[in-house]
Amino acid sequence: MGLEQSLPHHPSAITAAPAQGGAPDTAILGSATSSSQMMSAWTDAHLTTAQLAWKHAEHMLIKKAIESGDIVIDLGCGDCRILKSLQNAPFAQYIGVDHDAASIEEARRAFPSPTIPNSTFLAADLFRALPDMFLQEGAPIGRRVAICIGNTLGSFGDLRADALNAMLRFSDVTIVSVCHNTKEITLKRLEYYAKNEIDCRVDWKSGSIFSDAWGESRSFTEESLRALAEQAHAKELGFAAEFQTIAEFGLVMVLTKQQ
Ligand SMILES: C[S@@+](CC[C@H](N)C(=O)[O-])C[C@H]1O[C@@H](n2cnc3c(N)ncnc32)[C@H](O)[C@@H]1O
Repeated sequence: MGLEQSLPHHPSAITAAPAQGGAPDTAILGSATSSSQMMSAWTDAHLTTAQLAWKHAEHMLIKKAIESGDIVIDLGCGDCRILKSLQNAPFAQYIGVDHDAASIEEARRAFPSPTIPNSTFLAADLFRALPDMFLQEGAPIGRRVAICIGNTLGSFGDLRADALNAMLRFSDVTIVSVCHNTKEITLKRLEYYAKNEIDCRVDWKSGSIFSDAWGESRSFTEESLRALAEQAHAKELGFAAEFQTIAEFGLVMVLTKQQ
């Protein structure tokens, strides 16, 4: 089966965003679903104190993990706010990918070239963007660090394992930062929904919070992340996993390709 055939089916529409910086200038397919409303409820002013501490900790962790010359690919990047924390990081290139065109426009406004050199913001579905970028001649060269932060993995529904598999196939290191699934933390996550008057319901077992604004936002245990890595064929693809908790709220899985 060819790679394209092995990609999960995803409803998509052209939302081509011209690339800036050094990444290939390709028209990429993106989902028709808009999440700009969601992102507008995800600015710092909307977050709780615990969430702000978590976001800060995950940004610092990513900054520390980046090495000179890395290509950082931010999957489900939203408004690419992490770039604020990466101002002096030594990466060669940052590529933000989000299927929500409005969030990408927001990122372009917030980080106009050449403030951040070699940044590219793509309005695209990650399942299409990754092969489009890296299965072609002239693809950017360097260690590829895929990041999927802010519990983005928890919003992928049944495509969680497929999305992780796609990241692994196109990266040397994949860093996934999610919310920890404990009763205490789910209660803390609910404070965000209350603060922003977003109706929601909770499934305590999976740690999923469901709302019209965000759909399902699942949280994870180390065990459930390990199971997901297995489903994503991390071992077969040569990756070893490490875990750490950050700022009480967060759980991070770092998958590194073994030499
Ligand atoms: C919870 S938000 C997190 C945004 C950002 N990573 C942050 O930490 O602020 C999840 C983002 O993933 C994007 N997203 C969801 N599924 C996607 C897909 N298949 N391809 C690209 N982006 C996707 C949504 O549009 C949304 O902006």
